[in-house]
Amino acid sequence: MANSKKVWQGRFEQGPAAIMEAFSRSVDTDQFMWREDIAVNRAWATALKEAGIYSADELKRVLAALDTIEAEFEQDRFQFLPADEDIHVAIERRLTELAGDAGAKIHTGRSRNDQVVTDFRLYLRRKGARWLQALIDLQAQLVALAEQHRHVVLPGYTHLQQAQPLALAHVLLAYFWGIHPTLERLRDFYPRLNRLPLGSGALAGAGFPIDRQRLAEQLGFDDVTPNSIEATANRDFAAEFLFIVAGFYTFLSRVCAEWQLWSSQEFRFIDFSDAFATGSSMMPQKKNPDAMELIRGKAAVAIAALQQMLILQKGLPLSYQRDLQEDKPLTFRIIQELRPATELFREAVATARFHPEAMAARIDDVLYATDLADFLVSRGVPFREAHAIVGQLVRESERRGVPLSRLPLTVYRQHSPHFDASVFEMFEPQASLARRNVEGGTGPQAVEQQLEKARNVLQEYRSYRWIAKGSQGRRGFRARKK
Ligand code: ARG
Repeated sequence: MANSKKVWQGRFEQGPAAIMEAFSRSVDTDQFMWREDIAVNRAWATALKEAGIYSADELKRVLAALDTIEAEFEQDRFQFLPADEDIHVAIERRLTELAGDAGAKIHTGRSRNDQVVTDFRLYLRRKGARWLQALIDLQAQLVALAEQHRHVVLPGYTHLQQAQPLALAHVLLAYFWGIHPTLERLRDFYPRLNRLPLGSGALAGAGFPIDRQRLAEQLGFDDVTPNSIEATANRDFAAEFLFIVAGFYTFLSRVCAEWQLWSSQEFRFIDFSDAFATGSSMMPQKKNPDAMELIRGKAAVAIAALQQMLILQKGLPLSYQRDLQEDKPLTFRIIQELRPATELFREAVATARFHPEAMAARIDDVLYATDLADFLVSRGVPFREAHAIVGQLVRESERRGVPLSRLPLTVYRQHSPHFDASVFEMFEPQASLARRNVEGGTGPQAVEQQLEKARNVLQEYRSYRWIAKGSQGRRGFRARKK
């Protein structure tokens, strides 16, 4: 038997078996929430004073002890004991060592069930704000790259087959708009995340007159959770966060695949900087786009985490169940890699070299097949018929081994009398783009419009409350302590 003293030991004749104690410990993971737990303790102590539990002197002693504990964590000298099941117990134990009875009163009206979920929401708030900042930087980078590559043309693909010419800026902006919903979702999610569960107690609500609105204000929450059972039982906010992350990675993984292809010898559209590539332990010539592959690999981990979070909750009766302790390890792993992955991607694309000549050289005449059909349409031929005529011309060029633009006009006219010499003006990349100034298209004016939109959106991001509020992080919590 382990013979450490537990916070819940009263009704037990003996302590937990060593294996039970070890198995139930979560402190290795939840200690990352020490800042949040201290902030929550400060706010709770103040609420207990207002509820008449603490005297002014006790409150002072508790706040001073919390300052000491904070310094111990900051200087990496906080000592965990074997009986410290989780971060909440560890901090309460230390608080009691430092402040005596005042420390032993801190858990009045409170449960780890409302405490853990409050810490968790605060933690997601702090980390989410930083990720949002990294996302904004990434979006700004994509806009800057698009601005720099306005006049570069490359082949566009569907089914990985050459399809139509594209402006590189348009492709880069496709990445911007693909990431955009992640930022929109974070903004929408914030008010749902930012509700205070504290005061819910174990499941029924605190048994003391706690002013939860005051608590919420003190901890920078917008509102309080409306139901103590739901507040302690539910991890929907964590699942929602993981969905946002999984959606982000899923899109990014496709961009990574594209850039991996682009960096291959077959494409040579880009070269990654040496700083963001790796070599082979065996093949001396290799320069591998590992950054793209590693980030793409994280998509699998993030999607799995979302599933884990949903499965963890599926079928659990309300309210709190200990199963829920698994919520943090799976979320924390994702969070710890999130900002680095976002920054790595940004830096890898920012430092990559584009090869516009290689892109231009890859533009095959077949990319203009749609333009040729459109040419016939402009001369009154029904599109379906025009499609068939150009299809036959493509076949003819393949049969002769001659590119479309080199087929003699006589051959064109054999297939349709509507062709004349001006058909050869179709084989010009900028002209092809210029025909696609439809809003959202790859034409130069459309891309300018799109850039303008992206810049405006970027400006809007910067005023998102999550960023603007600035109540997160160590400084935020410290500013609030009094
Ligand atoms: N370490 C626990 C968790 O992460 C805290 C809540 C424990 N509550 C309880 N009644 N055992 O979920």
